[in-house]
Amino acid sequence: MKAKEGVVDLLNKILTEELTVINQYFLHAKMCENWGYERLHHHVRERSMGEMKDANEVIEQILYLEGLPNMQRLGTVKIGETVPEQLTADLEKEKAMVVLLTDGIYHCTKVGDFTTRHMLEEMVKDEDSHIDWLETQLEIIKQVGLENYLSEQIKKES
Ligand SMILES: [Fe+2]
Ligand SMILES: [Fe+2]
Repeated sequence: MKAKEGVVDLLNKILTEELTVINQYFLHAKMCENWGYERLHHHVRERSMGEMKDANEVIEQILYLEGLPNMQRLGTVKIGETVPEQLTADLEKEKAMVVLLTDGIYHCTKVGDFTTRHMLEEMVKDEDSHIDWLETQLEIIKQVGLENYLSEQIKKES
């Protein structure tokens, strides 16, 4: 199916961001594992895998629209050196992603691509839940203190 104007471009922009966050979250997960924060490691790795599924869907949609997925481009990976820094850096990325997806939804509505719009709407829901989780962690840290929070992260999720 031929793409409507600008849709492949916007999907490629989203793809770049997805590929960027896959890397950022993956490394954050690895760092948590190295620090012994099993619970966080597990959670952040899952989020990285979720973004991989998003990238997969975006790639499939670009190909369906007879476009060429751009795998060359990568945005800036922002690595936090502490857990709160990681959470803050990830939150920033998720918020930027929601803006990008929302712009995409508007564009798809304008040009009449409702299939892509539907896919982006589903993705926004996921990213919203990521934002919610990250904000909750930062709030918990504020309330119980970093040490208490981190000591809870050593355990594996049961
Ligand atoms: Fe995503
Ligand atoms: Fe996300």
